[in-house]
Order: sequence, then C-alpha cells, then structure tokens
Amino acid sequence: MIMVNENYAKLQASYLFSEISKRVAAYQSENPEKNLIRLGIGDVTEPLPPACIEALHLAVDEMAGRATFRGYGPEQGYDFLREAIALNDFQSRGAGIDASEIFVSDGAKCDTGNIQELFSQKLTVAVPDPVYPVYVDTNVMAGRTGKAVRGRYQKLVYLDCTEENNFVPTPPAVPVDLIYLCFPNNPTGATATRAELKSWVDYAKEHQSIILFDAAYESFIRDPELPRSIYEIEGARDVAIEFRSFSKVAGFTGTRCAYTVVPKSVMGYTRKGEAVALHAMWNRRHTTKFNGVSYPVQRAAEAVYSEAGKQQVKALNDLYLGNAGIVREAIGALGYAMTGGVNSPYIWVNTGRDSWKFFDRLLARAQVVTTPGGGFGRCGKNFIRISAFNSRANVEEAMGRIKRVLR
Ligand code: MLT
Repeated sequence: MIMVNENYAKLQASYLFSEISKRVAAYQSENPEKNLIRLGIGDVTEPLPPACIEALHLAVDEMAGRATFRGYGPEQGYDFLREAIALNDFQSRGAGIDASEIFVSDGAKCDTGNIQELFSQKLTVAVPDPVYPVYVDTNVMAGRTGKAVRGRYQKLVYLDCTEENNFVPTPPAVPVDLIYLCFPNNPTGATATRAELKSWVDYAKEHQSIILFDAAYESFIRDPELPRSIYEIEGARDVAIEFRSFSKVAGFTGTRCAYTVVPKSVMGYTRKGEAVALHAMWNRRHTTKFNGVSYPVQRAAEAVYSEAGKQQVKALNDLYLGNAGIVREAIGALGYAMTGGVNSPYIWVNTGRDSWKFFDRLLARAQVVTTPGGGFGRCGKNFIRISAFNSRANVEEAMGRIKRVLR
C-alpha cells in the first residue's frame, strides 16, 4: 500500500484559476454563441516585443549550425542574461546585486512555490490576505499548516490587507519566520512605499525572519518614488529573496522565463545554530532539479535590456496601464470603490457583496470574465479583481458591457 502525502487533502478542491476556467468553460459550452472577454487570469494578449522576436530567430538559427549549436547550458542561466539582469534591474538602481546571485528559471510561480523547500517544516509563515494562492498552497502541501477552518489554514499567520491599511500590511505583533510580500500586489494592485518596505526589512532583521518578495509586476511602476526592488531598501540584502518574471514585463507567459535573486548574505540556521547560506542551498536545489531555460528563450529575455527592447517593453506596459486607466474610469463612474490600476495592471473592486456571485453575474450578463476576490482569501470575499491584460478594443468593449449591466 502506497501512503500518499495527506497534506494534499487539506487543500481546497482546485487551484483558483482552474476553478474559474471550469466555470467559464461550462458557461461557454452552454452559450457557444456568446463572445467572452477575459479579464480574469493575468495572461498577456499582445505579441512579444520585436527585439525579443529578432533575438529568438537569431538564436534558433544558431541552434541549426554545428559550430553554434548549444546543448545543456548552465542551470543558473547564461552569464549574458544574468549580467544584463544584474546591471539593468539592480545595479542601475543602486541595489548591489551581483550576477552570480541571480538564478534564471522558467517561472516565478514555480520559484515562489519551490522556495519553501529550503526551510524547516516548523517555521511560522505569514502571508497577506488576499494572497496569490501559490504561496499558501505550497506550504500546505509541505505540511507547514493545519487544516482549513472557515477559509483559513491553521498555523498560518494572515496579514489582513484592507481599505483601512490601503492594502499594505504592517508587520505583525507576533514574531514570524517566513514572510511573503508582493508589490505591486497581486491581486489588489496596491504598491508599497520605501518607508513601508523599510518597516518590513527592519522587522525581519529584528526577528531574524526572511522576506520572500514577489516583484513580478515591478515594470508597471511609473511613480519614481516607489521602490521596484526590495534591494533598494538598506539591509534587505541580508533578509530578502526576490522573485521576478518576464511574463508580464515582456509578454513571456507562453515563452517562459523568470529569475530569482538569492543574495549570498541571506542566512538560515541549522538546529545547532550554524549559519547556512541560502544561496548555496538554492544553487544545490536548482542544479539538482532544473536544467536551465532554453538558449533561444534566454537570448529573447536578454533582448528586453537592449535599447530597442527597453522602449518596446515600456510601450507594451503602457498599453496595459492605459487599459487599467479605462477600467478605473468605468468602474469609478459606476460608484464602486477600488484600488490598483495605477503602477499596476490589476484593479481590485469592492463590490459590496459576495465575490463569486458578482463574478457569475458579470459572466452571465456581460460575458466578461473577472477573478472573484474570495478565491484569494477571506479579506477578498467582497471584491473582484479585473485584469488589464487584454487588447484595448476588448477592454473598451468589456467596460461598455459592464456599465450596461451594473448601471
Ligand atoms: C494571475 O492571474 O494571478 C497570474 O496570472 C497568475 C500567475 O502569474 O501565475
């Protein structure tokens, strides 16, 4: 008899976005003539920037020639990409991150899900509520929680993100070990100031905690005062791991490329109190379980940092930010309170009623797919998330339909 990992039984039946897809597919099969507009999962719609396409083509041609063909690459990523990342995303902003501290991967979802493997089962984990479900579910799978009671797992510390705190949690009164933070936030679209991030870095130093900082949406920040990386905060190099992705930045959701920064100065401890560099542990894990992102895809990611690439990426992000502005205007005109959509591609709308019912209503009456906030946690139960990732024409059409339905 094979015993299974019974922690899986504690999980809610399905992953949030699979549940939404199921409901949407059921609606579409009953109403095949209806034209759905998807503003649910944050999946990009616009093609890759031309600079990335050109780099992809060139790299594919290299793979066709004996002299330029590449087999296995370094698991951590090619130096050309790690160096471009370190220079452009960190050093140019005064954050002292070295190329050797960057681990290129196939997604921030996998990395934010896998990172918890480095830590003991006994740690206290703090997550925001609402939360990107991957942070929670992977800790449930690993056995770091009790069972779910009224939508919250026992043993997890939930950091409420509400209108009262502008959806930016303050450090808890109790000590916690691992802290997941995400800014610009998924799902609320809220951003954190330097002072707010500093309070978390100070807390982590004081309590010997580690911050797992998800910055997958940093490229949507336009306010120069807002930090784009936690490493812009003094001392963060000693207490934080950061996750980044090319998915939303440059439209790589189907191309797959991301990276995780593990500074060499972030330490964990053995039972005997000996310090262990998490960089060495993540390197060990990465080299054992991962064989690197494909060469053409890494060349395409490198092109994001070329002069042409930078301009094209900015234009791409501006298009989605423009969509977010259109959503904010339409939802605001209907009288709903909301956050996000500025410096962020997500708009978090207070519907004042059950989010799954609101989701069903928009699906059935406006044929617009959103994401019910209840799927992100208890604090989201009256909210829906609207994603700005779609074409301008679809966003305009969707807002027209929503206005007709909700007016
Ligand atoms: C989302 O819609 O929250 C994201 O697309 C999910 C993800 O990036 O995995």
